[in-house]
Amino acid sequence: MIALPPLMSEDVIRTRVEQLAGRINTDYANVSELVLVGVLTGSFIFLSDLARLLTVPHRVEFIAVSSYGSRESEDPESVRLLMDVRRSLEGEHVVLVEDIVDTGKTLAYLMRLLEARRPDSIKTCSLLHKPGRTEQEVDIDYLGFTISDSWVVGYGLDYAEKYRTLPYIAELPVEYR
Ligand code: IMP
Repeated sequence: MIALPPLMSEDVIRTRVEQLAGRINTDYANVSELVLVGVLTGSFIFLSDLARLLTVPHRVEFIAVSSYGSRESEDPESVRLLMDVRRSLEGEHVVLVEDIVDTGKTLAYLMRLLEARRPDSIKTCSLLHKPGRTEQEVDIDYLGFTISDSWVVGYGLDYAEKYRTLPYIAELPVEYR
């Protein structure tokens, strides 16, 4: 692994996560319980920081879908469910938490899947968004940062399982991919 300069420092990320948590705390102030559904694996660090800043009652669930690597051998357009949430989402207030929205296919797939579970409400939260790569439009209710079309790592995001625990976000130069 090589040393990468930060694109977003720990301080910058922290400030933005605090702002997002503040908005969620305001928006769900009157709700008895919020369900955060984190999309594995990339969202686990973002979700843990965000959840610990919430003052509204909440529980945490995880869901896992196929990654690019495992998609290539099958239908390259499809997203596959690898692990479902443990409890029913019927009548719940759900916030789906992603690390990054790239083409939008994963989030669009998960929204269709979870909306069919009849939650009372469902919103989306993503730390990062690459609008230049959009193939499926999805609303991101709580967005951290918009970035250009490059591969980013750190703060949960990986490249072939590497760099996930880098404490900041960095661009991985093309020559290292
Ligand atoms: P989408 O379905 O194309 O929006 O892809 C979303 C998923 O692709 C994310 O949840 C990540 O797992 C992965 N991904 C897309 N871009 C990046 C990146 O720049 N770094 C790390 N993972 C990425």
